[in-house]
Amino acid sequence: MTQSPRGIELRCICLDMGFGELHARTQRENLSTVEEVVRATGCGGQCQTCRPYISLMLRTGRVPTIDDVNPELHE
Ligand code: FES
Repeated sequence: MTQSPRGIELRCICLDMGFGELHARTQRENLSTVEEVVRATGCGGQCQTCRPYISLMLRTGRVPTIDDVNPELHE
């Protein structure tokens, strides 16, 4: 049985920024929309792969992890 890396936070690869840091910036700078996050940080503005997770973070108020990408890995 393969063990999966539960709970590991996602990163914006293009900007090399973890979502923990990104989440802290959204709180500190009162960023509440994906476009505001893109403008303030650059995350989500390049390849855009992380945009759905920025949206998830803003909706839920928590740091998205690998579990949000592929939850069936952990069944
Ligand atoms: S992974 Fe965030 S813009 Fe590419």
